[in-house]
This record gives sequence, structure tokens and C-alpha cells, in this order.
Amino acid sequence: MMFSSRRALLQCFTVSLITCISSASTFFNPFNVTYDHRAIIIDGNRRMLISAGIHYPRATPQMWPDLIAKSKEGGADVIQTYVFWSEHEPVRGQYNFEGKNDLVKFVKLVGSYGLYLHLRIGPYVCAEWNFGGFPVWLRDIPGIEFRTDNAPFKEEMQRFVKKIVDLMREEMLFSWQGGPIIMLQIENEYGNMESTYGQRGKEYVKWAARMALELDAGVPWVMCKQTDAPDPIIDACNGYYCDGYKPNSYNKPTLWTENWDGWYTTWGGRLPHRPAEDLAFAVARFFQRGGSFMNYYMYFGGTNFGRTSGGPFYITSYDYDAPIDEYGLLSEPKWGHLKDLHAAIKLCEPALVAADSPQYIRLGPKQEAHVYRVNVLSEGLNSSQYGSQSSCSAFLANIDEHRAASVSFFGQSYILPPWSVSILPDCRNTVFNTAKVGAQISIKTVDFALPLSPKLSVAQQSMIDSKISSISKSWMTVKEPIGIWGENNFTVQGILEHLNVTKDHTDYLWHMTRIYASENDISFWEENNVTPAIMIDSMRDVLRVFINGQLTGSVSGRWVKVVQPVKFVPGDNDLVLLSQTVGLQNYGAFLEKDGAGFRGQIKLTGFKNGDVDLSKLSWTYQVGLKGEFQKIYDIKENIKAEWTDLMPDVIPSTFTWYKTYFDAPDGLDPVALDLGSMGKGQAWVNGHHIGRYWTKVAPKEGCQTCDYRGAYHSDKCTTNCGKPTQIWYHVPRAWLQASNNLLVIFEETGGNPFEISVKIRSTQSVCAQISESHYPPLWKLSHSDFVDGKISVDDMAPEMQLRCEDGYIISSIEFASYGTPQGSCQAFSRGNCHAPNSLSVVSKTCVGRNSCSAGISNAIFGGDPCRGIVKTLAVEARCIPSSNIGFSQL
Ligand code: GAL
Repeated sequence: MMFSSRRALLQCFTVSLITCISSASTFFNPFNVTYDHRAIIIDGNRRMLISAGIHYPRATPQMWPDLIAKSKEGGADVIQTYVFWSEHEPVRGQYNFEGKNDLVKFVKLVGSYGLYLHLRIGPYVCAEWNFGGFPVWLRDIPGIEFRTDNAPFKEEMQRFVKKIVDLMREEMLFSWQGGPIIMLQIENEYGNMESTYGQRGKEYVKWAARMALELDAGVPWVMCKQTDAPDPIIDACNGYYCDGYKPNSYNKPTLWTENWDGWYTTWGGRLPHRPAEDLAFAVARFFQRGGSFMNYYMYFGGTNFGRTSGGPFYITSYDYDAPIDEYGLLSEPKWGHLKDLHAAIKLCEPALVAADSPQYIRLGPKQEAHVYRVNVLSEGLNSSQYGSQSSCSAFLANIDEHRAASVSFFGQSYILPPWSVSILPDCRNTVFNTAKVGAQISIKTVDFALPLSPKLSVAQQSMIDSKISSISKSWMTVKEPIGIWGENNFTVQGILEHLNVTKDHTDYLWHMTRIYASENDISFWEENNVTPAIMIDSMRDVLRVFINGQLTGSVSGRWVKVVQPVKFVPGDNDLVLLSQTVGLQNYGAFLEKDGAGFRGQIKLTGFKNGDVDLSKLSWTYQVGLKGEFQKIYDIKENIKAEWTDLMPDVIPSTFTWYKTYFDAPDGLDPVALDLGSMGKGQAWVNGHHIGRYWTKVAPKEGCQTCDYRGAYHSDKCTTNCGKPTQIWYHVPRAWLQASNNLLVIFEETGGNPFEISVKIRSTQSVCAQISESHYPPLWKLSHSDFVDGKISVDDMAPEMQLRCEDGYIISSIEFASYGTPQGSCQAFSRGNCHAPNSLSVVSKTCVGRNSCSAGISNAIFGGDPCRGIVKTLAVEARCIPSSNIGFSQL
């Protein structure tokens, strides 16, 4: 890869990344950050800023350099992250800034790439994070009410925010100290909640603003979705579209802190996808209409490791359909299309920052232009940057969802596809249109078991096969006791609130009592055909009912009513209720009151003498699982359990622990566990908590074919109907050793561990399809090419670009046709018009390389294969690891 700063960093690696980063005291010459109505002003210059959202604890520190490098290469100027209080202060007063919580290291790394950082301290962050990022102990502070004018809350919040600001200052990480931090955020979307809190909400906003400003961090603060953000705090927009957003004062710039480029998912949900064309349209419209800072939420979503998922019911993957996928691989064509978009916007930046506001021109009923023009002479600007006359950039939009439009703009005509924006850095030439995707598509696989290429020899294929890792065929097992398992249980009368007991140290809370069924009851049930039932007014997230050690029923939902039929034997019966959380609430008012477990009446119905009020009985409580308590997922501690060999014929079984050892697949490709054969539970590798898993199936209906046109919402363009929402679970390479990796699974409902496998995820095929009339290769253009009408026809000639992931090369071209090819990636076919040398030209240019580009012109393909017809080049290439086959000698 060709990152210049990345090269510098690689040199760092050879020394030691940690020494290298920490020895660099500053990353920039100290600079000031201010703003005016048009933009953030960095070191005296207004800037148009593209920001990439990456949450550091959703990846490992070993992944950070590549993620930041890929963000930079994709055109980001800024990295944005929240700060996760729950991770940094798991116990009040005891801080953790280690490993994936090493915020300082993350910020320094961003600086070392020459990127800026937007630090959203919150400390309420929402973010689909457990409890919205609040540490769960916060709810135990006497008299506390979250996010309102409440002294105990304000005291805790101030303490943490100050801690972070002080830490950043001590580490010299603010811009005026030569660090990357250009902007901060206090609170998060409080505007959505404020009215619920009445006058006290208003006071809280004022207090939060004052408190933040008094910390004297020296860079601007943002409050997102906060129309009453007090000056000088900037109110910012979050959403799928933010064009036309106006901050609450003319002196503030238009910022978009969260551009939702995909969405999150729940267990049993479909997978959301936001089309690249619509996303690019939203971004282009934002800059077209005066926006100046836009952040992708998320640019890389990553993984909710351990029990960090919020909810209830958010899945372990936080892929988010982001431009970089959960595993750190590029998600194409999204990443590439946005890269082109960013390059196009950057070509316009001089005009965008120079003009105070755009000129609006109506081009049609649903078509409009915004022109940014500056007169260089009259403004006394630098002519080497702006040209001798004037600088002019324009955006032409067609917001018609159905039809393309032909418009006339400054005497020329332009065709605008439906729901698209064309970008003209010189007000003449279109260098980009949001609906025309020139970026490659990549087809990913999670399994190397497929034959890689028909051209491979048997020896080459077996070399690859040997790298496929499957789990060892031997598994061991131990049962988790149902109900009370240890001396640390306690007995009280009544039903306790779940979180008050578990403190969220575990998902599980066992409740056990004894129910006496008399002969009279039994005959009453038989004679009247009555089945007794457990009734609970309201319950969240999962309840499992056991009678005499047998799982009798399971219910799941968020504050749902429970009516669970049960069967008793005559005499004493052990009734065990297991209450489970699946990610604490992360959104909404009064989070401190939300809690978990059971609410309202809880009773047994159907008894001869009337209902039994279970809240009057005496209950024995046990927090968590015995296996959790013994840490049997840990490398050292797992021997504490009495593991026995697992025989294939005794599965599946409920409430069971499994363990095995496996070798890491060779190479550096990301690794995933395929848990599709299991039910619900949690997984650990070498003691690292991979997360919860649940093979819950998405509804069969509701996945329509995707049309990028028209406003996006999270139910549009979903996939995966009728399949489990998640079966692959990311195991970061950093948590693996070459061999003997301990995998421990806790399974609740039953599954087949023998079918668990370890896969590697890689980009196997890449495809591109570019026509003669496509926009030019943006990576070759600079603003000066457009100054004073210098741009030539040759500069504007389109090119096709292909690239495999790092460490991969193109082994073969599976398809190439210059002419009128049909179909789509992996299903291309020749049309009537085809240049016979298409395959040989593309193969010669591309095979054996990590990336390649080819011009789209008759000259390159040996003459015009069909006069008067617009030609297209379609290519499908195969990527293989460069180390595997020795293709590097090709
Ligand atoms: C926003 C919130 C983010 C995240 C997002 C949905 O409202 O600020 O933290 O939760 O929604 O992904």
C-alpha cells in the first residue's frame, strides 16, 4: 500500500511502535482551532473536513494502525470517537486505560498519521454500548438521577469529563499543544430527552456547557442534536441526511457529527445496508448546501466484545455496513465510492472555503445548483492557489427519486441521474456523480475451502487446503448446575431488582424457591383440565423457567408479560427462575430507573386455593454461573472444572460448557469462529471474551431488492431474511497464538460443538465495470488542473482500478470485456460488442500485482470494437495471498 505516513509508521514498527509514538512529543506544529459561520478554522484556514468514526474499544490496538491508515487513504481528515466511561472506570475511582481502552495511545496514533481527532467525551454516549457508556455503579450513587439537574450526577459527570480533559492536556494532545484533538463533545443528543426533564433539563444543558467550557481545553465543543446549545458550543446534526441544517446562531458552522452510513442490528433482525449511491448523495448534498464537517457514523464499526453490547438484544457484531467492515477489510464499493467523492469535494475545497455562501440556481422543478465562486483579484487571494481570474466550483443536484434530468448550467447541458449530485470543481467539468459507482466491488469469503482458482496445480491447492483451520475433533464438557451452585448464595423474602443484585457483573441471576403441590391440586388440575402458569406483569430480557432441574420454558423481550405454563409433581418442587440480561438499555430517559428482571405482580395461577403470590415467598438467589465464578474460560483457571470427554452422540445439551484447543490459521487474514451450529451463549478464546452469540433467525419476509433512489431508512435494503442474524464471530489475531488456542463456549439452549469451525475472512474476487463516459480518475487530479480552464480531454479520460487487500495479489483475470458486457460481478458475460484482446490486455496489466489500473479507450484495446456505441470495460479478478503461491515472481 502506498501511504507515505504509513511507511514512516512501518519504520516505527521496526523500532517499536510504542516507543516511537510516545517519544514523539508533538505531531503538528501547535495550531489554534476556531470557527466562523462557514467552517472550522484550523490554523487560520477554513477547512472542509471529512471525518471517520472509529470506536477504539471495538477493535484491538493491533488493528488500529491499519484502520487509521485505511481511513486516511479513503480521504478522511479527522477520526472521531466517543470516550467509554464504563470501560475506563469499571469500579468507581479505579481507572483502566490499558489494551483496547488505551485512549492516549489511540489519539497519538491518529496524530502520527497526520489526522485530526474529534473526541466525544459524553460521558453519556448511547452508541449501542452497554448502559449507553455509563458505568453500572453510577446507578448506586445515593440520590442520583442521570442527565438532569441533579447534584450527585453532575458531580460524577464533571469528575470524569475533567479526568479525560486533564489526561489529554497532560499528554499534550490538544491542537494548541501540537496534538491532533481539534474538537470535543459534551453530552450526546440530549435534545431528544430534554423536554422529558422539564426545567431541570434546561438547567442541565446550561450547566453541562458551562462545566465543559470551564475546563479550558482550548478547542471548540460540540453538542449534537441540541438546538439550545449555549454559545460558544456548536449544535450539530445527526441523521441520514443533514443538508439544510442550520445551527442556532449565524456565527456557527454547519457540522454533521453522525452520518449514519448503515445501522445496527438486533438478534433475530435483518442486516441493514445503506447503498453507496445514497450515502454519497447525502454527503454531496450536505457540502452543496453549506455544510463543512461531516463524520461517518461508523467508518469502521467493529465488534462489541465481551458484554459491551447495549440493547437490549444488540448483536455482537457492530459492522454497521460501514466502509471498513467488522474485520478491518474494505467494504466495496462503499469505501471506494466515498474515496472518489472525498477527492471530488477536496478539488472544490478552495472555492468552498473562500465563498461565504453559495449562489443558488434553480435548474428545474427538482433540480438545483449551488455555486461557490470567489473573485481572486477583488478578494486579494493567492493566484497560484486560485488561478488568475476566479475560482468556481458547483454542485448540480437532481432530487427526483425516479427520473434522470437534462439541465442547462452556464450554457452547457448536463444529464443528472435520479437522486444524484454531480460535482464540478471548475463549474464546467463533472468529475463525480454520486449515482455512478466507479469503485470496485469486492466479494468476500469466510472460508478458504473453495478451490481458489481452476488454474492452480494440485500442489498449490493442497498448500492452501493445509491453511484451512478446523477445530480439533476433540471437545470436553462440563455441566453448569441449574440453580444454586455455591455458598455465596443468599435467601430473602420477595423478588429483588436484577441489577441491584448482579451489579451487571454477569448476565445471569438465579432465583430458587420451593412449591408444594398437594394431591388436591394435582387432581384439581387433572379434573378441570387446568395447567398452572407463572405470570409476571413485565420482564426483560430473557427468562428461563426450570422445574426440578428441567428447562420448562423460555421467554424473551423488553418488558413483556409472561404467561408460562408449568407442570408440578406431587409434593415439593424446585422452581428456578433464571433472569438474564442481553445488553443493558443504552437509549432513553431515566436509564437509572430502567433496571432489569421482573416488575409488577409475579404469581402462580391455577392452584385450587387460588393464585400463589410469588413475591411473598422466600427466594434463594445466586449471582452468575458457576463456570463464570471459577473463570473456567481462562487459560490458567479452566482446569478447575471437572471436564470430561464429549461424545458426539450425547449432544445437544442445555446449560453446558465446552472446551477445545485449535491452531490459528496461517497468515494475517482476520479470523472468525463459525458458531452457526450453536444456540445461545458466550464464547472465549484464550480467556478473551469474544462476546455473546445467539443463532436467532431473522424474519423470512422484508428483504426487498435495493433501490438506492429515495430517502434511506433502516428497514430499506435489508438482507439475510430467514437466516440467523450472526453466525461468524471475530477473533482478533492479537488474541491468538500459533497453536493450542483455548476455546471455551457456554451454551444455554443446546447446539453441536463438533460443527464449530475457524474460518479466515478475505477478499477473494474483485470486479470493476467502467464506461467511456464515466468520470475521470480522481486520484490523479489536483485543484490546479482545473484552474483557468487548463483541464484537458486526456485528464478527464476514465480508468478502471482494481486492488486486492494488503498481502494479496491478482492471480488471474476471470473475465474481461471491453465492449458491451452484460451482467454483474461473478456473472459477467460478453455482449454483441467485444474487443478480442480484452483479456490479454487486462491480464498483462494486472496479474501478479496487488493493484492495477487500465484506461478505458479504444487505443488501449487495439481499436474501436463497435463504432458509435458507448463502450464499457468489465473485469473480474481473483485475489490470492502473495505469500502462498509464489506468484510474486510472475
Ligand atoms: C445516535 C446516537 C449514537 C448511536 C446512533 C445509532 O442517535 O447518538 O450514539 O446510538 O444513534 O447508531
